[in-house]
Amino acid sequence: MVRVRSSLAELPAYVPGRKAPGAAALASNESPYGLLPGVAGRLAELAGGVSRYPDMGATALVRAIAAHHGVEPDRIAVGAGSSEVCGQLLHSVVGPGDEVVFGWRSFEAYPILTAVAGGTAVKIPLRDHTLDLDAMAAAVTGRTRLVFVCNPNNPTSTAVGERALRDFADRVPQDVLIVVDEAYREYADPERVPDALGLLGDRPNVVVLRTFSKAYALAGLRVGYCVAPMEIAAQVRKTQVPFSVSALAQEAAVVALGECPEVARRAALTVAEREGTALRLRALGFEVPQSQANFVWLPLAGDSADFARHCLDGKVVVRPFLGEGVRVTIGLPEENDAFLALAATWRG
Ligand SMILES: Cc1ncc(COP(=O)(O)O)c(C=O)c1O
Repeated sequence: MVRVRSSLAELPAYVPGRKAPGAAALASNESPYGLLPGVAGRLAELAGGVSRYPDMGATALVRAIAAHHGVEPDRIAVGAGSSEVCGQLLHSVVGPGDEVVFGWRSFEAYPILTAVAGGTAVKIPLRDHTLDLDAMAAAVTGRTRLVFVCNPNNPTSTAVGERALRDFADRVPQDVLIVVDEAYREYADPERVPDALGLLGDRPNVVVLRTFSKAYALAGLRVGYCVAPMEIAAQVRKTQVPFSVSALAQEAAVVALGECPEVARRAALTVAEREGTALRLRALGFEVPQSQANFVWLPLAGDSADFARHCLDGKVVVRPFLGEGVRVTIGLPEENDAFLALAATWRG
C-alpha cells in the first residue's frame, strides 16, 4: 500500500464556487463583464501557436507588470494564478514544521498550500470580520517564516487600514516574509485601504500579491504575480512549475494591463452595485460588514446553508461557508436584483 503524507490526509480539499446551468454565478468572485475588449481578438490570433511552449520567463508580461507598478522587472515573479504564486512563496521560505500565520477565516487556499509545502498553519481568529493584525503579530514566533495578510480579506470583504498595516509590518521581524494578498485591490477605496506596494514596498520582507483573475477578468486563463524584493523574486521564480503560465495567458494579461481605464470603469460599476446591494440587504435586516471587494459577506452562522439553498432554488449560486456565513459576488445589476429578491423572501 502506498503511504500518503499524513499531513495531507486530514486536509480539506479546496471547494470551488458551484456553477449551475441557467443560474447566476455569484459564488466565485469573478468579473461579470466578460473579457476586456482587446483580449478576445488577441487570443484568437495566438491560438494557432499553442503547439509551441510559451516564453518561460514571460518576458513581455513581466516588463508590462513592472512598468505598470514603476518597479524593476527583477522584482516580478509570475505564476498560474496568484494561487500558484502563493505556493511558490511558501516553497521559497517554508521548511518542514515551519509556521505560517494567517487570519481565519481567510482565503481557503492558504491552509492547503501551507500543508503541501510542509508547513504548519497558525490560524488567528478575525475580530469583527476583520484581520486582527495585533493578534497576528503576537503569534509570530521564532518558527514563523511567512505571514499572509489578505487585504481586502476573502471571504469577509473587510480591509485593514494604513496605520494598522504599517504598525504590523514594524512588529514582524525582518526574517519573516509578509505576503500582502491584494487580489481585490481594484475594488478597494484607495482613501481607506493602503496600496501595500506604496506603503511597504521598500521593505526587505514584504511581498505584494496581485491577480488577473478578478478585475482583469481572466480567471479562466490563470495568471497572477508578486512584486517582491529582487532576491526573493528570484527564489519564487525557481519554484514555479516550468511553463505554468501559458502563452495565451501571458499575452491576454499584457493586453488587459493596457486597458486599465476600462478595468477601472468596470470596477467602479461593481463598487456602486456593491454599495447599493449592501444598503438594501441592511434594510432587509441583514448584517453586512463594509466591503472593500467585489463581494459581500453575510455572517449568517448556522443559517448559512439554508440561505444558500434558498438562493440556489431561485437560480442564484452563492458561496456558503458552513456555520460561518455566505459570500455573495457582485454580478450584473439584474443578477444582483435577482439575489436581493431572494434575500427578501428568505423565510418570507
Ligand atoms: C484572496 C485571494 N487570493 C488569491 C486568489 C487566487 O486567485 P487566482 O489564483 O485566480 O489568481 C483568490 C481567489 O479567489 C483570492 O480570493
